[in-house]
Amino acid sequence: MPEFDFSTTLGPAWFPTPLFTASGCASSGKELSQFFPLRDIGAVVTKSIMLKARPGRPTPRMAETPSGMLNSIGLQGPGIDTFLANDIPWLLQHNARVIVSIAGENVDEYAVLARKLRSVEGISAVEVNISCPNVENRGLVFACDPQASRLVVDGVRRTLGGDIPILVKLSPDVTDIVEIARGVIDAGADGLSLINTILGMVINVDTMRPHLAGKTGGLSGPAIRPVAVRAIYQVHQAFPKIPILGMGGVRSGRDAFELVLAGASGVSVGTATFSNPMAVIDVQNQLREILMSKGFNSLKEAVGFAHRDE
Ligand code: SIN
Repeated sequence: MPEFDFSTTLGPAWFPTPLFTASGCASSGKELSQFFPLRDIGAVVTKSIMLKARPGRPTPRMAETPSGMLNSIGLQGPGIDTFLANDIPWLLQHNARVIVSIAGENVDEYAVLARKLRSVEGISAVEVNISCPNVENRGLVFACDPQASRLVVDGVRRTLGGDIPILVKLSPDVTDIVEIARGVIDAGADGLSLINTILGMVINVDTMRPHLAGKTGGLSGPAIRPVAVRAIYQVHQAFPKIPILGMGGVRSGRDAFELVLAGASGVSVGTATFSNPMAVIDVQNQLREILMSKGFNSLKEAVGFAHRDE
């Protein structure tokens, strides 16, 4: 019997397993490393980093919702230089594979971030986050505009050259995600991260005011899984050769399997980590068992299986 092959590829980047952290839910992995060796998962996808240090939005910036949560963190972070000086060396010393997520305030800033990453050794891929919902101005959600998203990815691609694979993180808050995907693929994306959170809002009925200081926030958790499955399915159908890193409410191997069947070559676990720090490992073990019990010889055989005989 052939040995089961759990490995995956996201463009030119190879990973021994298809489970990843989701950007923003495990910072740069230090806290999670108390619970399992980071090397045991596909890669750590770091919290989206910006050019300058940012305190993020004022509090409160989290809210519980039915089967999910709302965040309005506002891209808090140390800025790229501190991140490169502290976090990347730490991750590499701990033998983690790393996907660096970047977010810019404008097209040029993404290119500057890419320039700073170009010469950094040991990065598996760059995730270009063009879909953070927690920005002052919805016009800055590049992923809601085909032209703007294309320009960002074009600038990053030109700056990085062909050496580092680029994944582009898209928002489901658009009329036609396939159209946005087409633009960023044409601009040079090697793969896509689907999906970012969905813009939402909670009003505190006691104070009768928005609960979050930033008023709106990004909805994550199991409540959004069907949206993730739909987006992955639609994009995989349109671009079956483009690898997708899927995320959105995954907390079990069955959930991850659903995303794989829709077309994801890798799966990120995010919100589930807050209640179970071992969630990525648990999902990884469960997914492997499910795939084997269904008779697959490899993860790759299962990717997009739900599209068969269409
Ligand atoms: C945030 O920091 O506000 C969340 C980032 C994101 O959802 O892209």
